[in-house]
Amino acid sequence: MRFSGKVVLVTGAAGGIGLAAAMRFADEGASVALVDHDALALPAAAAALRGHGPGECMELVCEVGVEQQVATAVGQVMARFGRLDVVVNNAGLMVFKPLEELTGADWMQVLQVDLIGAFFFTKQAFLHMGVGGAIVNVSSVHALETEQNVAPYAAAKAALLSLTRSAAIEGTARGIRVNAILPGAIDTPMLWNNPQVKSGAERLDAHEVGKPADVAAAIAFLASGEAAFVQGTSLLVDGGRLCRL
Ligand SMILES: NC(=O)c1ccc[n+]([C@@H]2O[C@H](COP(=O)([O-])OP(=O)(O)OC[C@H]3O[C@@H](n4cnc5c(N)ncnc54)[C@H](O)[C@@H]3O)[C@@H](O)[C@H]2O)c1
Repeated sequence: MRFSGKVVLVTGAAGGIGLAAAMRFADEGASVALVDHDALALPAAAAALRGHGPGECMELVCEVGVEQQVATAVGQVMARFGRLDVVVNNAGLMVFKPLEELTGADWMQVLQVDLIGAFFFTKQAFLHMGVGGAIVNVSSVHALETEQNVAPYAAAKAALLSLTRSAAIEGTARGIRVNAILPGAIDTPMLWNNPQVKSGAERLDAHEVGKPADVAAAIAFLASGEAAFVQGTSLLVDGGRLCRL
């Protein structure tokens, strides 16, 4: 029970990797705040979570790219639990277009959620977390290697690694650790709704597709005291996909 008595906030927690991470933290004793903008999906996610572990569960409808909503959400967590120990910046989205069709609005939509949303929660975490706090940013293999038609996503996920390093530097003085996970292909709606996966343009062998629980286990490690000396790092969780020539 690495998270007994701790309070964990997970963004993008209505499904996929976020919900799997929330379940993992709950199984290990945490009370968990589920943050998502999908108000229809959150109640089912919370109901699924309630069977896990002894802690409490809180649902928060929030657009992670809107600073005031992020501040309000974290304020509600502090009001209910009086502490915040872990933040997992997991909410994310992709836009699929070739460069010549992308607009500034497309770029801003992706950056606002995948990068600036993580910054807003990092800022709130720095304002409210105590010594021993941990932030885990869910980036992507696209931060390192990418493909056609996803330029804003690849750029946002690469910049999230940079934010991870900056926050780790400033977090050290506060006793807060900040690390990133780079998942490969993971069995969630985001993967199977990817038009390039659907069309076969992005080929995936079965052994290259991981489960949300695989990522959740790595997130929980980085957030735990076992990773007390792990600061500012990026951990690939891709089944070895990026190792191949
Ligand atoms: N599935 C993969 O293959 C894969 C690979 C690498 C990285 N990732 C990353 O993992 C994270 C989770 O992805 P997933 O596969 O579970 O996807 P998903 O689409 O199943 O879940 C994403 C969640 O984020 C929420 N969300 C999106 N925009 C939001 C916003 N503005 N405010 C609040 N919530 C918002 C969605 O409602 C959804 O519940 C994402 O950051 C994604 O980029 C996924």
